[in-house]
Amino acid sequence: MGRSPQSFEFPAWPQYGDAERMALHRALDQGQWWRIGGSEVDTFEEEFADYHGAPYALAVTNGTHALELALQVLGVGPGSEVIVPAFTFISSSQAAQRLGAVAVPVDVDAETYCIDPAAVAAAMGPRTKAVMPVHMAGQVADMDALEKLTADAGVPILQDAAHAHGARWQGKKVGELGSVAAFSFQNGKLMTAGEGGAVTFPTRELYDSAFLRHSCGRPPTDRKYFHNTSGSNFRMNEFSASVLRAQLDRLAGQIDTREERWPLLASLLAEIPGVVPQGRDERNDRNPHYMAMFRVPGLGEERRNALVDTLIEQGLPAFVGFRAIYRSDGFWESSAPDESVEDIARRCPNSEALTRDSVWLHHRTLLGTEQQMHDIAAVIAESMAKA
Ligand SMILES: Cc1ncc(COP(=O)(O)O)c(C=O)c1O
Repeated sequence: MGRSPQSFEFPAWPQYGDAERMALHRALDQGQWWRIGGSEVDTFEEEFADYHGAPYALAVTNGTHALELALQVLGVGPGSEVIVPAFTFISSSQAAQRLGAVAVPVDVDAETYCIDPAAVAAAMGPRTKAVMPVHMAGQVADMDALEKLTADAGVPILQDAAHAHGARWQGKKVGELGSVAAFSFQNGKLMTAGEGGAVTFPTRELYDSAFLRHSCGRPPTDRKYFHNTSGSNFRMNEFSASVLRAQLDRLAGQIDTREERWPLLASLLAEIPGVVPQGRDERNDRNPHYMAMFRVPGLGEERRNALVDTLIEQGLPAFVGFRAIYRSDGFWESSAPDESVEDIARRCPNSEALTRDSVWLHHRTLLGTEQQMHDIAAVIAESMAKA
């Protein structure tokens, strides 16, 4: 291959430096390490909301809790159905199922890997209480089509924006799209404190309800242990928020770099026989690129897995794509649709294929040099020729 795996010196992830160190000291020296009485979480929420064009943001413990809390304030509970893409990380469905709702998986688009609005329309019914598009790898789902069909039915959208910090759709930031959005700050995400999450809200009413519920139903001024609503403890701590403020400052520059690198890498990947890079809906006018994704249609799951092993041996941070959620036993342990795996598989052919043929590279590859995009493509081309 002419180059050693070690020659791939992509930037490390997470990125951090004096800004994060100083932030942690600032939080430490406050002497208040939880959000009540501290200022880091409050300030982070304002900065995060502002960056995403949302009126309000609430910081929480992780992205899974962000989804669960958001669904709860949207009125999801036992007897509800929540429509989710079949091709996603399992938290999208687990959040609904933890509330006693049925998660209904529907198919995704074969090119963008985002929820297919036609499949959503076919699955909507009287019990549908929310539709959850996932902005897969930073590609925003078709919000125009989804907004139209949910508005007609009076059903709220919850954007799973775990991959979409800083994304834009037709000039609008995620928080300007008028619906609730949930984010993750887990270690691999586009900004991180190891763990963490946030929810952005279009109205004060939803934010207030979420605030109470994320703090055991207790108003911040309560001294008499009177709990206004049901809830749990999903509060973010001051240390995480301080680090996330520094991470937010890095985000725009990192997105600019990835936005420059991906078109080059995608065009190189498209030239490799048997490789199809993730497509981009041009209405997604800023894509933060949480993953560099591509498909190897027709290779089959075993050979796809072997290909990923080869890429790792060659020094690339490569991974197999998500497994369609209904193909994990855990999906069936909670409230699931009254259908068999085979029934769902039949109506989700693209999610089935993506389970077998999708591959992704960590987003730190897209923070590499232009030359590294050529090197990545060369390694994939050589590995494909032998796959
Ligand atoms: C699409 C999607 N939604 C939700 C989550 C859950 O986020 P967290 O790991 O912070 O709970 C993740 C990822 O980890 C994800 O990929």
